[in-house]
Amino acid sequence: MRISVIGCGYLGAVHAACMAKLGHTVVGIDVDERKIAELSAAKAPFYEPELEELLEDVQQTGTLTFTTDIAAAAGSDVHFICVGTPQKKGENGADLTYVDSAVENLLPHLRPGNLIVGKSTVPVGTASRLAAVLLDREPEAHLVWNPEFLREGHAVSDTLHPDRFVYGVEDGAEHHPSVAVLDDVYAIPLSTGTPRLVTDLPTAELVKTAANSFLATKISFINAMAELCDAAGADVTRLADAIGLDDRIGRKFLNAGIGFGGGCLPKDIRAFMARAGELGADQALTFLREVDAINMRRRSRVVELTRELCGDGLLGKRITVLGAAFKPESDDVRDSPALSIAAQLQLQGAVVTVSDPKALANAARRFPELHYVQDVDSALQNADAVLLLTEWREYRDLDPHLLAKSVATPRILDGRNVLDPAKWRAAGWQYRGLGRP
Ligand code: UDX
Repeated sequence: MRISVIGCGYLGAVHAACMAKLGHTVVGIDVDERKIAELSAAKAPFYEPELEELLEDVQQTGTLTFTTDIAAAAGSDVHFICVGTPQKKGENGADLTYVDSAVENLLPHLRPGNLIVGKSTVPVGTASRLAAVLLDREPEAHLVWNPEFLREGHAVSDTLHPDRFVYGVEDGAEHHPSVAVLDDVYAIPLSTGTPRLVTDLPTAELVKTAANSFLATKISFINAMAELCDAAGADVTRLADAIGLDDRIGRKFLNAGIGFGGGCLPKDIRAFMARAGELGADQALTFLREVDAINMRRRSRVVELTRELCGDGLLGKRITVLGAAFKPESDDVRDSPALSIAAQLQLQGAVVTVSDPKALANAARRFPELHYVQDVDSALQNADAVLLLTEWREYRDLDPHLLAKSVATPRILDGRNVLDPAKWRAAGWQYRGLGRP
């Protein structure tokens, strides 16, 4: 099929490359010229495992091109909307400017029978509103909402082998003409038995926000347990192992630590609360306020623990923060708890050095006042305390004996509870986890 993908960020660039991999002829469109130039040269504009290899692979076949010209969408059968929906400035709601303008700019290039497929995460009700616009301007085209569930760091495999497809269509009916078209687009993954659910438009939009709210709640639940474990002298990692063995609960997403961040979970739960308020159902989501509050409390807790760890306050203390990205295998620093903690420590008088295998350039753009050192050994020289805040494999594998020789004082705060406390203590370190005795 001929496919256009509008918006080539973390979602769209991966989606465009994966659709070409599935055998379609794809044009990726974005207003950002630098991004388009990089993608055209088979370079990923951000770090995502497997993406660059995939871009090289499919561009050799000539079935994937990139452009800034929206007119290139003409001639495609299916148009995916993959633009961002960031949090509005100073408000909890989602900013829909990019979605609205993507659809508006696409309208003149549509032909009867075309499909617009929304993938961006939007407040419930957006798809019906856009469907009404489409009905007015190109009544023979259709709109579908087909949310993505991909995780950064696994975006390529999550797109090629998703755990489910959700198609939101106007009447929610299996025989809606758009269903067969999307089935053709996803023929390869569907052929392996991937579940596919057809719903109405608002249900499809809600599936995405409900899934992210559940994940955020799971993380804040275990972080609340970590607070309790700290107060009672218990170990939250063993607690998670034990409750996780109940398969109604499950062990995944029960890692207590510095909390969730990134471009999705924090803004999605806030936009969800804002939308519930508009719909007069705000009471249903007041618990998400608590989920958000528990999550943000993690950051101040780590600052306090670092102060305790340093003994006599933060002023002038040399602190090395390992990790700037919001999670490993990503260079994304949007709402990164690691970077937010580093910045708070610096504001309170510490001399902070941040290291990260991939995210330093993005981090430096956001917080230019922090000191960045790529090489871990150099970053650790003469540190008064070390904070492990993003659990990259290379940090988990650090040798406490070797490291003890570089730092001024061997003190470590394990913000992700991924190190073996006994091993680090045996190597002479003062070890502090979160919710661990
Ligand atoms: C998330 C959803 O998983 C995905 O389905 C959705 O489409 C987009 O948002 P992503 O933002 O890539 O994906 O990150 P995810 O792997 O979900 O992690 C989110 C945050 O939670 C990270 O900061 C991570 O460090 C944190 N986390 C995750 C924990 O603190 N503990 C856990 O046990 C798991």
